[in-house]
Amino acid sequence: MEQARRMRYLDALGVPVYVRREGQIQPPPPPGGGWGEGAEATNGSMSASAVCPHPNPPPEGEGVQKQSSWDDLQRQVAACTACQALVSNRTQTVFGVGNRQADWLIVGEAPGADEDRQGEPFVGKAGQLLNAMLAAIGLSRESVYIANILKCRPPANRDPAPEEAANCEGYLLRQIELIQPRLLLSVGRISAQNLLQTDAPVGHLRGRVHRYGERQIPLVVTYHPAYLLRSPDQKGKAWDDLQLALRTFRSLS
Ligand code: URA
Repeated sequence: MEQARRMRYLDALGVPVYVRREGQIQPPPPPGGGWGEGAEATNGSMSASAVCPHPNPPPEGEGVQKQSSWDDLQRQVAACTACQALVSNRTQTVFGVGNRQADWLIVGEAPGADEDRQGEPFVGKAGQLLNAMLAAIGLSRESVYIANILKCRPPANRDPAPEEAANCEGYLLRQIELIQPRLLLSVGRISAQNLLQTDAPVGHLRGRVHRYGERQIPLVVTYHPAYLLRSPDQKGKAWDDLQLALRTFRSLS
């Protein structure tokens, strides 16, 4: 990406940029100086790391039907009543948005109030920051696909319950099968813990490349943009994660 444009994106992201005399962009040093934080340093290599156990099969019946087309899947999600607490609270389901042949699939947590109203993921303040994060690595919102662990807004934006995530899993799995993304970017704790079937915090999961599912899709974890809005001092780490994701993608044959 042309440097001036990149600088504007980084500025929008709130990431301080340190410029070498010869004009090369450097990622910002994390608090305390230096480029990495011990084991979490990102070096762009596909480190041997957690390989996701095979995800649960999609639920039958109420959930996704095998081999569903995009249209079928969208209808099944819109008609889903698997989670009573969510159904009675939702304005509409939030299926996902973007390029159905995308190389990058971004997976968030669940719709919030704005998304529930508009029927599209990441359209609020966190969504604006996500757009800026993607733009910083040269990706438009339209070029990727964006989905969530849950298709319905949890009441008062509480964390998704494990059974709700399990009820919804089949829909995301079918989206992944249909898209066949080459890289997953998992944003936030709920997304990462569900995709990787772990209780580990994001701070332990970020900074390395995981593998997801049977196709062993590279998966990079970063902080949720809503968290970054509350903790802007963590944006430097998110920038490292985005760079790792980009290097990983570029290294794919
Ligand atoms: N946060 C998410 O995780 N997903 C959205 O769609 C919006 C906010």
